[in-house]
Amino acid sequence: MPPKTALVTGVGREAGLGFAVARELAAQGFHAVLTARRLDAVEPLAALLREEGGQATALRLDLADSDSLRETAGQLADTFGRLDVLVNNASAMPDFRVLNALDADMDDVRTALEVSVLGPWALTQALLPLLKAAPAARIVNVSSRSAQQIATGLDLGAPLRSPAYSMAKYMLNALTGVLARALADTPILVNAVDPGNTATHPERGDAEHDRPAADSARDIVRAATLGPDGPTGRLFSDGRTTT
Ligand SMILES: NC(=O)c1ccc[n+]([C@@H]2O[C@H](COP(=O)([O-])OP(=O)(O)OC[C@H]3O[C@@H](n4cnc5c(N)ncnc54)[C@H](OP(=O)(O)O)[C@@H]3O)[C@@H](O)[C@H]2O)c1
Repeated sequence: MPPKTALVTGVGREAGLGFAVARELAAQGFHAVLTARRLDAVEPLAALLREEGGQATALRLDLADSDSLRETAGQLADTFGRLDVLVNNASAMPDFRVLNALDADMDDVRTALEVSVLGPWALTQALLPLLKAAPAARIVNVSSRSAQQIATGLDLGAPLRSPAYSMAKYMLNALTGVLARALADTPILVNAVDPGNTATHPERGDAEHDRPAADSARDIVRAATLGPDGPTGRLFSDGRTTT
């Protein structure tokens, strides 16, 4: 039987949430497949997990490049033949100073949708045979509170922080429900997690007020390891389902 395998996207930095998620999955016995746009950024992080006693592999994966998605699926099929967990963690980080949709740079909007919506959608399609080869795969989409600004945002006077990012996360939440519905006749569960403000940039001093990445990672891994009666198509925030 091949090992339980988990793929995490956007693992480009040791301080990032993606690496904390991969570390927690490796600690729980998964073979963690760490992916990033740059192989030279992710290889040392996979090596670090192996030094810690975990099983880890680094692969290049650019969510805005459909050839890259296909290549990753092929490499996973050849090496593991199954995928138990897919964590869509990657995200473009457009300009957070933009507070009005009419000021948004449309190239930023396109990139945000490509990385947070179209990429995870196409990646799920490319990995579907492997997800179905696992006994009960889980897909987790890393969302953000920014999406809720739109979901509940009838306060027309309030600014919308980074419309590109907020729209992309709002649509990622919608994609979560759409994929859950498409996979309803399989054991695969699809959920989104809003990790809350997380200290992924300690050099900016966020460790003083935000959650440690390891705490947010545990919430994500909980959704990635739900039992057979777990929910699907839901959004977890503060460890509870909200929708
Ligand atoms: N930190 C927080 O407070 C917070 C709060 C709510 C939600 N989140 C979410 O948590 C996730 C991780 O965020 P983070 O704070 O850890 O920041 P981060 O390290 O910047 O994570 C984002 C990652 O996405 C990658 N990425 C961007 N474009 C990509 C592409 N085309 N293909 C593949 N990867 C791509 C980046 O890679 P490069 O290194 O190559 O640019 C980066 O590694 C994101 O989805 C974010 O929205 C974070």
